[in-house]
Amino acid sequence: MAKLWGGRFQKSTDKKVDDFNSSIRFDKRMYKQDIEGSIAHASMLGKQGVISREDSEKIVAELKNILKDIDDGKIEFEIDAEDIHMNVEKILTERIGEAGKRLHTGRSRDDQVALDLRMYLMSETQEISDMLIGAMQTLTNLAKEHTDTIMPGYTHLQKAQPITLAHHIMAYFEMFRRDFSRLCDCRRRMNVMPLGSGAMAATTYNLDRQSVADALGFDSVTMNSLDGVSDRDFVIELAGVLSLIMMHLSRFCEELILWSSHEFSFVEMDDAYSTGSSIMPQKKNPDVAELIRGKTGRVYGHLMGLLTTMKGLPLAYNKDMQEDKEPIFDAVDTVKLCLPVFCDMISSMKVNKNVMLRGAKGGFTNATDAADYLVKKGLPFREAHAVVGQMVFYAIERNMSLDELSMEEFKKFSEIIEKDIYDAISMQTCVNDRKIIGGPAKATVESAIKQAEIFLAEQH
Ligand code: ARG
Repeated sequence: MAKLWGGRFQKSTDKKVDDFNSSIRFDKRMYKQDIEGSIAHASMLGKQGVISREDSEKIVAELKNILKDIDDGKIEFEIDAEDIHMNVEKILTERIGEAGKRLHTGRSRDDQVALDLRMYLMSETQEISDMLIGAMQTLTNLAKEHTDTIMPGYTHLQKAQPITLAHHIMAYFEMFRRDFSRLCDCRRRMNVMPLGSGAMAATTYNLDRQSVADALGFDSVTMNSLDGVSDRDFVIELAGVLSLIMMHLSRFCEELILWSSHEFSFVEMDDAYSTGSSIMPQKKNPDVAELIRGKTGRVYGHLMGLLTTMKGLPLAYNKDMQEDKEPIFDAVDTVKLCLPVFCDMISSMKVNKNVMLRGAKGGFTNATDAADYLVKKGLPFREAHAVVGQMVFYAIERNMSLDELSMEEFKKFSEIIEKDIYDAISMQTCVNDRKIIGGPAKATVESAIKQAEIFLAEQH
C-alpha cells in the first residue's frame, strides 16, 4: 500500500516492518481525540487563510462523518496505515480527495500525537477522579456505621492501642483525598495544547494556536516547540499518581486478606466477592482483594517502564515514544477496573464487631492507658511504664486481661490504684478519651466524617 510519506522511497516497507511499526492496534482508542484535534486544526487553517474556507469546511464536515462511522463500528482500520493519525487522514482523503490532503498543513504527527495523548489522558483522568470520589463516598458511608466498632490498632502488626473501624477506614479516606488532589494537579499540567510545535521547530504558517486551544478547551499553549513534542512528563506523572492509588488500594486489600483469615476473623467477604477452591471444599478465598494487590505490581511496572523508555532520548520525538501508550493505557484501565470492584467488595463484607472488640481487649491494648492512669495520679511516666509492664507480665502468666485483675491484685503493683482504674482502662474510655484532632474518639471521627462529606459535596 502507498504510504502517506512514500515520496522519497523507492521500495515499499517490508511486511514485517509494517506490523512492527504499526501502533493502530492500541492507539485506535484515541480516535475521538484525533478527530476533534483535526477539526480544530482544519477550522483554524480556514480562518487564518492557510487553506481555503471551502476546503476547511469540507474537511470538518467529513471528519464528523468519519467520527460517527467509527462510533457506529463501520470502519476497519488498516495496519499498513500505521497509526490512528494516518488512518483517519487516509480515510478522509479517500472520501473527499484533494481537500483531505490539505489537513496536515502546518502540523506533524509528532505534535498531533502529543495533542491526542494529552486529550485522551485528560478525559481518563477525569473519569478516575470521579471514581475516586465514589470510593471516598463508599469509605465514608462505611465509616459512619462503625464509629462504635472497637478494634485493635497495630504497629509492627502487634496489637498496639484500641481504635475504631471508622477511624481505620477514614485513614484511607485521607490517602484517597491526597490521590484526588494529585490527579487534579497532574491534569492541570496536562492541560496545555502542543499543536503548532510541528515536528520540533514549529512552522512558518501563521497558525492561531490560541484559537485551537480555546476550541479544544485547553487552558494554555506549550511555550517551546521542542518541549511540546518531546514532553511525556504528563504520562509519567499520571503513572506515578496511579501507582499511589494502587498502593493505597493494595494496603487496604492486604489488611482485608489478613482480617478475613481464620486467625483474625474480623471480617467475612461476601460470597459474591470470594471464590472457592477446586480441591479444598472448606475454602473461601479473598481473590478480589488479592487480585487488586497483584495488579498493583503491574501498574508500578508501567511507571518504571515509562521512566526507562524516556531516560535516554535526545530531543525531540523518537519512535521509542510510541512505547508510551500501552503502559499508560493499561495503567489507566487497571485502576478503572479495580476502584469499583474494591468499593463493592468493602460495602458487601460482613464485619464481626464482637471479634474485633475481643481482639482489642485481648492484647493489652489498654496498657498505655493504664500507665497514663498512674501518671495522672502523680507517678512519673517512666515509673508508670515499668509498673504496668509488670502488671502485663503478671496477667500474661495467668492468661488474663488487665481489666480482669482484682483490686487486691492491682494494689500489689501500686498503692495509688483505686477502683476508677476499671473505667480508665475500659476500651470505650481508651478510644473516646483520645479526642484531640485526628484522634479515634467517636465524636472526633464523627466530625472528621462530617468534614469529609462537605469535601465530597464540594466536588460535585
Ligand atoms: N504512532 C506514533 C506514536 O505513537 C505517532 C508519531 C509518529 N511520528 C513520527 N515521526 N514517526 O508515537
